[in-house]
Amino acid sequence: MSVKFAVIPAAGLGTRFLPATKAMPKEMLTLVDKPLIQYVVEEAFEAGIDTVVLVTHAAKPSLENHFDRQFELETDLELKNKLALLGVARNTLPQGMKLVSVRQGKALGLGHAVACAAPVVQDNPFAVLLPDVICYHAQQNATDQLVTDFGQHGVSSIALQAVDPAQVHKYGIAGVSERGQITQLVEKPSAEQAPSNLAVLGRYLFTPSIFAELAQTQRGVGGEIQLTDAMQALLQHQPMRGVTFSGEVHDCGDKLGYLAATLTFAQRHPELGEAFKKLLKS
Ligand code: G1P
Repeated sequence: MSVKFAVIPAAGLGTRFLPATKAMPKEMLTLVDKPLIQYVVEEAFEAGIDTVVLVTHAAKPSLENHFDRQFELETDLELKNKLALLGVARNTLPQGMKLVSVRQGKALGLGHAVACAAPVVQDNPFAVLLPDVICYHAQQNATDQLVTDFGQHGVSSIALQAVDPAQVHKYGIAGVSERGQITQLVEKPSAEQAPSNLAVLGRYLFTPSIFAELAQTQRGVGGEIQLTDAMQALLQHQPMRGVTFSGEVHDCGDKLGYLAATLTFAQRHPELGEAFKKLLKS
């Protein structure tokens, strides 16, 4: 069964990035010349997904607007014969992709956000991409790696990457068997409680069974309905796989992580990269 849906939870308040995110969604922060949300939508598209379910909030209409047509802008660019820019403005949502948005009325956590997408996703497998985490891999993006794994094994899978043991309290942490089966998942454990130092990095692929688990999940760490707790519950009925991601992972919801990502992406940018490297040297 192919994976056609991606859920992008984007209803959070972005308090880690104030004051930038007071009147602007954190997902609209720009990495070089594109907002974070566009990177993850493109990652899903490259993985063969054709429908994005954006879980958003009343205060963040710019997210939907970014992927909509902008008639005035397009007419202006057309009249001035700026066709390359016209293409850029038109294709924020990759051609052939559909975007559906649902609202998360209450800030009850990541698990609750994913559950809000259930009426659209229904009985289909789906990916989840956290938009403040920007991943890069030169050969195959993180979501595509999960889609490939799902094609081979037909079970839920989670992208993992080793982190410094002193950082495990910031992440969902997985215990994994030698054959790549997840044995345990704990949300933000202490270093002593952590089953490993393999962190859930923000890319998931689920069978629709996760929705039944989410419906039963009680509030966990931070008083929120945690996706990790629903995954731990799903593990009791279905196997789940850990896929180690060897590419770059940038936490762009964090100021320092965002600056590091900006440096890396700017140096790799096809038009600006060389000039930016010179600028850095000077
Ligand atoms: C969320 C998840 C956590 C995961 C992390 C990745 O936490 O709950 O399991 O490791 O994203 O960034 P948050 O960073 O939203 O607190």
